[in-house]
Amino acid sequence: MQDAAIRHRTDAQVAQSTTMFAVATGTFGPPSALQLVNMAVPRPLPGEVLVRIRASTVSAADSRIRGGRFPRGLGLFARLMIGWNGPRNPVLGWDFAGEVAAIGPSVTRFRPGDPVFGIAGAKGGCHTQFRCVPADGPISLKPDALDWAQAAAIPFGGCTALFYLRDKLGLKRGERILIIGASGAVGSAAVQLAKHFGAHVTTVTSGRNTALMREMGADEAIDRNWADWRELDLTWDVIFDTTGTVTARMAKPCLTNGGKIALVAADLPAMLSAMLSGMFAREPRIATGVAPERRADLEFLAEMAAKGGFAPLVSGVYRLADAAAAHELADSGRKVGNIVLLPNG
Ligand SMILES: NC(=O)c1ccc[n+]([C@@H]2O[C@H](COP(=O)([O-])OP(=O)(O)OC[C@H]3O[C@@H](n4cnc5c(N)ncnc54)[C@H](OP(=O)(O)O)[C@@H]3O)[C@@H](O)[C@H]2O)c1
Repeated sequence: MQDAAIRHRTDAQVAQSTTMFAVATGTFGPPSALQLVNMAVPRPLPGEVLVRIRASTVSAADSRIRGGRFPRGLGLFARLMIGWNGPRNPVLGWDFAGEVAAIGPSVTRFRPGDPVFGIAGAKGGCHTQFRCVPADGPISLKPDALDWAQAAAIPFGGCTALFYLRDKLGLKRGERILIIGASGAVGSAAVQLAKHFGAHVTTVTSGRNTALMREMGADEAIDRNWADWRELDLTWDVIFDTTGTVTARMAKPCLTNGGKIALVAADLPAMLSAMLSGMFAREPRIATGVAPERRADLEFLAEMAAKGGFAPLVSGVYRLADAAAAHELADSGRKVGNIVLLPNG
């Protein structure tokens, strides 16, 4: 992708421009199908704010949507929601951090210049320089303690981890949790939140990430290439999987009595089995489901970040023109924490 045009526009030129750059794709396909395009800057409708996007992540969801790769059994539902032959919104991008550039009629919650971050979700549209979002939606003031990249990295992993650990599992002080895939966006947020809730945290990652896990607060860090967590003769109160490689049957022998499982990347068969277990009150309890997009959760995480209790993990920062490289890394399933695009950088 050519980025000379972006690099030669100053901040002031971008602010006054009626057009903006975006990364777009018309069909499901590889990262090479992404194109840098020019679009009109949208105008905020009543109840909306126009955000000048300073950072947005390339998440596992962006990678899935771009490639048209959905968990087993969920393809039909996903395509009905997102688009049949390609994403309905050609511009991807789940989350954003930036300044309010303008407000639409009747908006009182924000003023131009406010630093904010939030979620656009499956509607996407954040891999660009400006986006309009509802002022009463999942958008919150950015904590001063975080830069733009870190603020954009709060929602995807943070809201998911919070929803599972606090709301679905009710994680308690002193409980032992095993986090599989702890080095990803969701996992790295889960490690920090589980410590915040007072749990004893064991992580499973590849060897290159075990030291990082300890730095983030893990009490024990298993290198998955050296030891299989199922063969360690250990038990946990909660097994939290972000990789989609764990089944309830596999996890059950490693759970304490009354232990729970979270399958964050569950496919349809796993979701149905979790539903049946719940209906018949079978042990272990299995948590699955899609994390909601709630302003209150963003505010909770922002407050934690402001107090130094949560620092979203960012391992790479890319310019808009290099979005394909960021997508390749996201596609690999090996990214560490979050990777971030800087549309106005
Ligand atoms: N339910 C929901 O609402 C919800 C919300 C968000 C995400 N998700 C889903 O959750 C999944 C995880 O998302 P994410 O953003 O955290 O993904 P991610 O950032 O792409 O996760 C990548 C990490 O996973 C690790 N990993 C891969 N295979 C592993 C294995 N077998 N054991 C241990 N670690 C492994 C990799 O570490 P190494 O390279 O070191 O192996 C890498 O650091 C995705 O499938 C996503 O679609 C669901």
